[in-house]
Amino acid sequence: MNNIKTGGVVIIDFGSQYTKLIARRIREKKVFSEILPPNSHMDKIMINSPAAIILSGGPRSVNDISALSYNKELFQLEIPILGICYGLQLIVKSHGGEIDSDGGGEYGLATIDIKKDSALFHGFKSSSRVWMSHGDRALNVPRGWELLAVSSNGVIAAIENKAKNRFATQFHPEVSHSEYGSVLINNFLFKIARCSANWTSAKFINEKIHTIRKLVGSNKVLVGVSGGVDSSVAGALIKKAIGNQMVAVLIDHGLMRKNEAKECKNFLKEGLDLKINLYDESDIFFSKLKGVLDPEKKRKIIGKQFIKSFEKVSKKHRDISFLAQGTLYPDVIESGESNSKTANVIKSHHNVGGLPKKMKFKLIEPLRELFKDEVRNIGYELGLNKLLVFRHPFPGPGLGVRIIGEVTQKRIKMLQNSDKIYIDTLHEDGLYDDIWQAFAILVPIKTVGVMGDQRTYENLIALRAVTSEDGMTADWFKMPNETLQKISSKIINNVKGVNRVVYDITSKPPGTIEWE
Ligand code: XMP
Repeated sequence: MNNIKTGGVVIIDFGSQYTKLIARRIREKKVFSEILPPNSHMDKIMINSPAAIILSGGPRSVNDISALSYNKELFQLEIPILGICYGLQLIVKSHGGEIDSDGGGEYGLATIDIKKDSALFHGFKSSSRVWMSHGDRALNVPRGWELLAVSSNGVIAAIENKAKNRFATQFHPEVSHSEYGSVLINNFLFKIARCSANWTSAKFINEKIHTIRKLVGSNKVLVGVSGGVDSSVAGALIKKAIGNQMVAVLIDHGLMRKNEAKECKNFLKEGLDLKINLYDESDIFFSKLKGVLDPEKKRKIIGKQFIKSFEKVSKKHRDISFLAQGTLYPDVIESGESNSKTANVIKSHHNVGGLPKKMKFKLIEPLRELFKDEVRNIGYELGLNKLLVFRHPFPGPGLGVRIIGEVTQKRIKMLQNSDKIYIDTLHEDGLYDDIWQAFAILVPIKTVGVMGDQRTYENLIALRAVTSEDGMTADWFKMPNETLQKISSKIINNVKGVNRVVYDITSKPPGTIEWE
């Protein structure tokens, strides 16, 4: 069988906020791409026989002593290279050119003028809009290289070394604001690097089924499903590979959306004949959360109890050798396999289906090379219900982090009912698929109202809806007034204990998507 990763692109990550976007843009064109840290060993870089290398942007200056070290053997490779932003500056500096760190940066839209024909700019107009985001700039073109384009601010915008098939742009072709960005990526992938467009859902499924079967043999696999897209797709894929050698369990922590445990069970049974063993562990979660107000404490309690419950449940299935998880590529990148970033802990994330470290199972992560949209495509191709596949992401700690303050059964019910009305209305108004994530939050404030001539003193529900590419940054969704009005009155009229609804207009940053 052909390796569907062969003929793809390795992206060397110098820490740009856009690195993941480069990988996604390439994969959208059905070419495999992977992100690796700058000091990766050549064996690792070449393991999938890439057809090209891209050097990403990055926040540092190539002139700083703290500039990231990178594997210099990269420049001995015979395959095409494209440097983007920091990538251009690294190429210039490492080939004897100069980089100026004293001003002359460009942020946002700029125009470039093409000075010389190149395969990279095939199909471009002579002048076009691009997205810039750099503080340093190249002062000259190194020997053996030629100038391709200049920005309206007089900055070197693109260069090439035709003999070696190497290119660099100061602008970001991966950002949608770059008018011909997609054309440029196409040119690089197919005209220059002759990449293989192998990366399709159908091929991925075939290859995964083959590897899972080979790995598992006649053993059994335990899959923890959560009601979300990732674990459901992982379950569906494994089921397709090994049928009844798979056991799926769902631990209901009582913090799921209304009817979610049941719906998930039905969705997976429908068509796929995937049977879920449902374990209701909610009482123990509620007792552990009693009286706890602090968000981080809540997250830790839920995460820890989840592992305990999972251990307990797994002991009921004795002859299991493998544990499957729905880990995605962004988790792999963020866990440091891509870049050594020292980030502040904003929230301690936990994933339902998360791995109890001490367990003696071997691990299967069939989705660890995929981005969320790719997982959705695979789920769709596998025949999962559209409502499940395109469901908004849901955090591991569930409604526990959407009930500000103490989590009680009464407050969960109030939130579940409000959230259901909210989400149902978004479906009714055809807005659900335009939103990356929408949910309600129960805020521990009571306010005064008047209903039917009576004074009320009841709870506040906040509504959150955001647009986003991957949850790392987000903008608040510009919800039509009529929809907001409909949701507000439906919630107040139907959910006992709620007399006020507000809409959150904070983007991320500075806010986070969840409130806790
Ligand atoms: P924040 O709130 O950090 O959320 O802006 C970004 C995305 O991550 C989801 N999220 C989680 N997902 N376990 C998860 O699996 C968690 O503990 C967790 N906390 C937040 C959040 O819903 C959003 O999609």
